[in-house]
Amino acid sequence: MGEINFFPDDLEIKDQKIILRLDLNVPIKDKVIKDDTRITLCLPFINRLIEKKAKIIIISHLGRPKGINVPNLSLIPIYKYLKDTLKTNVYFFRGTFDFETKEKFSQLKGGEVILIENIRFYKEETEDGLDFSKKLGELGDIYINDAFSCSHRKQASVHSITKFVKKSYAGPLFKKEITAINLVIKNKKEPVTCIIGGSKISTKINVITNLIKKVNNIVIVGAMANNFLVHKNLKVGKSLIEQNTKETIANIYKNAEEHNCKIFIPEDCVVGTDFEGTGKNKNLNEIQENEIILDIGFNTIKKIQKMINESNTVLWNGPAGYFENKNFLKGTLSIAENISKNTIEKSLISILGGGDTFAAINKSNDKLTFSHLSTAGGAFLEYLEGKDLPGISVLK
Ligand code: 3PG
Repeated sequence: MGEINFFPDDLEIKDQKIILRLDLNVPIKDKVIKDDTRITLCLPFINRLIEKKAKIIIISHLGRPKGINVPNLSLIPIYKYLKDTLKTNVYFFRGTFDFETKEKFSQLKGGEVILIENIRFYKEETEDGLDFSKKLGELGDIYINDAFSCSHRKQASVHSITKFVKKSYAGPLFKKEITAINLVIKNKKEPVTCIIGGSKISTKINVITNLIKKVNNIVIVGAMANNFLVHKNLKVGKSLIEQNTKETIANIYKNAEEHNCKIFIPEDCVVGTDFEGTGKNKNLNEIQENEIILDIGFNTIKKIQKMINESNTVLWNGPAGYFENKNFLKGTLSIAENISKNTIEKSLISILGGGDTFAAINKSNDKLTFSHLSTAGGAFLEYLEGKDLPGISVLK
């Protein structure tokens, strides 16, 4: 399989109709955008296309409306945001894609923008329908996917649309995401340490299995680590565990040994008797029947910090504890602050991904610095699994 076609910045695109697939899937409540990170990240490229006098047709989804018009999932708040922010005419389109629509889109002037209503209001989008993809593709001349976070979806505006345009490219944000993740699995500066947290091992098993072959250390934290403790015959009280993981974990250890990858699991923990209460640091053999593991302990934090200090590349996905309660936030924040310190002082390459990881690090009072924060959730994990993502293969 060839290389991804990245959008060449010197391409002459004046008056060309560019279909730009973005991920403007931002949290909106009562028509108010609650976090505009994903939009602000897209703005420099949109402005660049405006400057170059391209005719810009933006496609995005919002939520999962399942092919029907759900008013709460309309892109109107995003349209208003773009209208207020971009220094050009911005239009909004909702309706069917027929000949007249195509004519209308052709009347856009160079440097103007049209935003199409939530593409998932059309049921053919998620079906990756060919007729629909053709109608979308025929709206423009060039297709640019700048939504890496959607590239794991086999959907019309990400996948089959590419069959019906003259040329398809990946945009600059897409490139940034891929380049960053490749620093962990392809062009890496060793030692590479991956810290994988969260609650369900079943959602991360493929990621761990693929990473074992490529990195030096894997640190397992969060409720996921409880299964590893049980595997070592430790008692975890009322802690969250997932059933039937014995074989999965045995395989992880077997593969790790074969590939010379060190698996590190917590050596002590912070327990509480309920999620909203306070915590106590304990050794792993001291956990009572009524206790729940809610964070990693002091010694574990120290060991993880040492591993980070000795690494040249760190990838982190998933919090270390129940960070929603500040009494169990320390493990996650200690990791975040140590990664940030090493990024600033020792040029550590640090890549973070996952909504929960962001929510947790946003609780820090300090301004933290990382080499790359991925806005992609599912796509980030699937790319780490080594999968050939549908939205990527069509750009090769
Ligand atoms: C995301 O939020 O990860 C992307 O926008 C993809 O959304 P989806 O999981 O609904 O496809």
